[in-house]
Parts: sequence; C-alpha cells; structure tokens
Amino acid sequence: MKVIAINGSPRKGWNTDTLLKKALEGAASAGAETEMVYLYDLKFRGCVSCLACKLQKEPRPNRCVLRDDLTAVLDRVHEADAVILGSPIYFSEITGEARSFLERFLFQYLNYDDYTKPLSPRKRIGLVFTMNCPESMFDSVGYREIFQRYEEWMKHYFGHCEMLLSTDTMQVKDYSRYHLAGWDGDAKRLRHETVFPQDCRKAYELGVRLAGDMDR
Ligand SMILES: Cc1cc2nc3c(=O)[nH]c(=O)nc-3n(C[C@H](O)[C@H](O)[C@H](O)COP(=O)(O)O)c2cc1C
Repeated sequence: MKVIAINGSPRKGWNTDTLLKKALEGAASAGAETEMVYLYDLKFRGCVSCLACKLQKEPRPNRCVLRDDLTAVLDRVHEADAVILGSPIYFSEITGEARSFLERFLFQYLNYDDYTKPLSPRKRIGLVFTMNCPESMFDSVGYREIFQRYEEWMKHYFGHCEMLLSTDTMQVKDYSRYHLAGWDGDAKRLRHETVFPQDCRKAYELGVRLAGDMDR
C-alpha cells in the first residue's frame, strides 16, 4: 500500500503542509508506505495539449509524454494506491501549481472515445484544501460548488474521493506586523489553537482510511 501526498502549497510547515503530514502519519500508522511531493520544488508545466496520450500508435497510451520534473511523479502516482492532493485556495481556486498537476494527472486518463469510461486505475483520492474563508461564507462566495466539482472529478476518474476543508486558517503568526486589518488576529490565533488541531485529527483519520484495505 503506497500513499502519496501532493503538496500544492508553496509554504512548508504551514496549514496545508501540516495537514498533509498528519494524513501521511495516519496512513503510515495503518501500514502504508508514504511520500510527500512538494510541487513548488519541481520545474514542470501543465498540460500542453499535445494529445500524444490519445495517439492510436502511442507506445504508452493514456500516459502523459511530457518530460520534466513531474514525469517521475506521475509514474509514482499512477502506481500508488491512494493520492492526497493538498492546496491552499488562491482567488477561489486551488493554486496554479496544483491545477497544473491536475491537468497532467487527469488529462492522460480522459477517454474521448467514451467519456463515461475514464482510462485511470482505481485509487483512493483525498483532497485537502485550506483557506481564509470561514465556512459560514461558502454559499455567498460559491465555494461549495467549486469544491464539489473537484470531488466529482476525482470520483469519476478514480472511484473514490474524500475531501477535508480547513477553513478560517491562520495566515501569519503575528497579524500586528502586517497590513491585514481585515482579519482579527486574536480570533485567528484562537481558532488555530482550538479548531486547527481538530482538522489535524481529521487529516490523520483521512490518512488511516485511505490506507485501508481497498476491498473493505
Ligand atoms: C495569493 C493568495 C490568494 C488567496 N486567495 C484566497 C481566497 O480566494 N480565498 C480564501 O479563502 N483564502 C485565500 N487565501 C488565503 C489562503 O488560502 C490561506 O491562508 C491558506 O490556508 C494558506 O495555506 P498555507 O498555510 O498552506 O500556505 C489566499 C492567499 C494567497 C497568498
């Protein structure tokens, strides 16, 4: 059992990274071999629409042919039993790096002959998104639909997806040092000390579940 976390945050040691580490700890506690990939350490591009993965005579059909730092990662992800993609929300979306990873990860498996039958191996997928936005604002900013769309894609391609949303996160340690007056630094710290540990526990449990027996 191999579980890979794909980290789409540029900040090591912060919210997304902490939750992904917890998820991998959980997976390891269930006996999985684990790996963290930091997308911001890699040089890679999103899909360039070469369509080589759809060529009838391509020797490795349904696999991305681009050669860069993501190539080996995509190979390991292809073999993994579970993949956890983590990203902060930037301008109401996952980060550009996380999105570029997803383009390459998903497009190779997209079946234009029959969209209902993706060419992907079955896998357990975890999505871990962190954001400033409190859940109480989700409806007014349309976040529920955005996140559900990712969950549905993952279920369509891989058959299983669980999502963990960590909201109202602490963005900096000391709010008094920044022009961040729109946020209540004391409330952020309190939430970080009380709610974020619960999110960490949920991430750990997510990792345990994803590393569980596929047939269960
Ligand atoms: C460029 C940028 C854009 C952001 N846009 C949003 C946003 O649209 N919605 C939101 O809720 N948070 C937004 N945030 C806040 C981050 O999503 C939040 O602080 C997140 O938890 C950071 O994750 P990290 O600690 O792993 O870096 C933004 C942060 C940055 C740097």
